[in-house]
Order: sequence, then C-alpha cells, then structure tokens
Amino acid sequence: MSKIVELFEVGPRDGLQNEPVFIATADKVSLTEGLARVGLPRIECASFVSPKWVPQMADAAEVVTGITSDLAQLYALAPNVRGLKDALQTPVQGICVFIASTEGFNRANTNTSLVGAVERVHGLISEFKRTALVNVRLRGYISCVTNCPYDGDVDPSEVARLAEVLYGYGCDEVSLGDTTGVARPEQVARMLDSVVQSVPVQALAGHFHDTGGRALLNIDVSLEYGLRVFDTSIAGLGGCPYAPGAKGNVDTEKVYDHLKASGYSILGNPDRSALGDVSQLARKIVGK
Ligand code: HMG
Ligand code: MG
Repeated sequence: MSKIVELFEVGPRDGLQNEPVFIATADKVSLTEGLARVGLPRIECASFVSPKWVPQMADAAEVVTGITSDLAQLYALAPNVRGLKDALQTPVQGICVFIASTEGFNRANTNTSLVGAVERVHGLISEFKRTALVNVRLRGYISCVTNCPYDGDVDPSEVARLAEVLYGYGCDEVSLGDTTGVARPEQVARMLDSVVQSVPVQALAGHFHDTGGRALLNIDVSLEYGLRVFDTSIAGLGGCPYAPGAKGNVDTEKVYDHLKASGYSILGNPDRSALGDVSQLARKIVGK
C-alpha cells in the first residue's frame, strides 16, 4: 500500500471561520500564499456561505482573487447554488459541498433537515456539472461521522449511505469529518468498515478535530483502512461555529511530524521549516 500521504490544508477556511474577530483579507491572503509556498498541494481558503451565518468568511471572493500564487490548488466551500455561482466567478480549482450525517447538525448548520440537505447538495452539484469548467474538482464533506453534538452516536450505515450519495452525485473526493473531535479509534474503525463498502478508499479523506487528543490515533486507524488524504489546519486553527466546544482541526505540523516518524512521505514534499514559520504567522494573525 502507498506510503505517500497528502495533507489537505483547511486552516484558512475551516480554521479561520471560527475566529470571533474579523481577520483582514490581506492576512487571509498572506496565510494561504505562505501555505502554498511551503509545498502543500491543495488549500481550502474561503467559504461562500451567508455572512449572516459566518461573518468571518464575508470576504471570500476578495480572498480568492487576492491570491496571486499558483503553487497550490485553491478550494472553496459553497452551501448552496448562490455560493457556488459566486465561487465560480473566481479562479478556484475546487468546490467543496457539505452535509451532516444527522438531523440535528443539518438543522443547526444549514437550517434544514437531513432530507433537505441532500436535496440542496443535489441541486448544487447539478448546477456545478452544468456550469463549472471541466478541470474544477468537487469535494464533498460529511460532518459528524461518529458523534453529533445534538443527536449523539451516529450509525455508520448512515455515513456510508451519504458517502455513496455524494460520490454517486459526482464528488471525486469525500471527506469524513469528526466535527466535534471526540471520536475514539474503534468508532472510526466501525464507521470505515461501513463506508469502504460504498465508496472506493482512494476517494476518501479523513477530517479529524483534536478535541479529545485522539486525532493522530484516528489517522492511524484510517491509514490501516487505506486512506491517504487527511485534512489538517495550520496551528490547529478552528472549531466549528455550530459544534459548541469543538477544538480545531488537527494541526498540520503535528500530522506532518507523526507521518514522517511513521515512515510516510508527504505529497508535494512540504518544507518543514517553512511550515513552522507559517504556523507562527497563523498564530500572529489570530492573536495567539
Ligand atoms: P437560511 O437562513 O436558511 O437561508 O440559510 P436563506 O436563503 O434565507 O438565507 C439567509 C440570508 O443569507 C439571506 O439574506 C440570503 O440572501 C443570504 P437576507 O435575505 O436575509 O438578507 N445568503 C447568502 N449570502 C451570501 N452567500 C450565500 C448565501 N446564501 C444565502 N451563499 C444557508 C441557509 C445554507 C445559506 C446558511 O445556513 C449557511 O450559509 N450556512 C453555512 C454555515 C456554515 O458555513 N457552517 C460551517 C460549515 S463547516 C462544516 O459544516 C463542517 C466541515 O468543516 C467539516 C468538519 O469540520 O467536520 C465541512
Ligand atoms: Mg473541520
């Protein structure tokens, strides 16, 4: 099995979206450009959501158009057709759509039921197929793949069903999110037992938050199942505005060091020392 792993950097979006004080557009641009120079191949840098829901991402278009570096592929999140259309006016190379595996989280995060969320994603992807340039990629997120802050433990077969839906609609990658960061490795294993029956493992990514300090263990389990893409966030920035108490995505440096120590190569061969410098920049930007 391949010993090459990709770190999909989500800090400028998933990390910053949770910051309470508005981060200047120029800082968001500098952070993404710094991460691109490090050698990370793909960076999710903006979110075309309603600014009433996530005010921090209100400058999504300015951020994407402000980035001059072409060293990394830029991804942006879109919750609906309006967000998609706005995103496609910019030079993004990847669109991310999202859904949660529970009723409660969909209601809190996007003001709709699970059925409504599936319908919305379907409409969004239909529009994507109709209008996006052929080389723009499509990533689907599933949040709360093991635990939900509103509905409790999540049935693995439901996650598998939604992964199949996203993949079947046309997502070339499905990212499995432990949004609250409380998953235990055995829960991740049970969830993956189910999901790998529905979607080829090459199309799966792991998205672990580190609230419970088990993100690296959960990555190790996922590696055993064959996953080779993990979402990480510079300086461990983040949390989720609709998952109270959740800490950030697992820190990019921490995952880099862990994987290297376990004998893996990192896609794009990121510069470790430059990564440390960008982590300092990220902390400075958010005032930590
Ligand atoms: P709604 O209130 O049900 O719908 O929100 P609405 O259509 O009535 O829209 C509300 C207002 O927002 C309206 O403005 C719209 O025009 C505007 P008003 O008429 O009141 O002046 N609006 C928009 N503005 C800009 N861009 C748009 C847009 N859409 C509507 N695209 C909606 C429904 C889906 C819009 C809202 O719930 C929303 O934006 N939710 C997103 C919340 C969010 O971003 N959460 C975090 C995402 S991260 C995540 O889910 C987890 C993930 O990171 C993985 C993990 O960590 O595990 C992916
Ligand atoms: Mg996250």
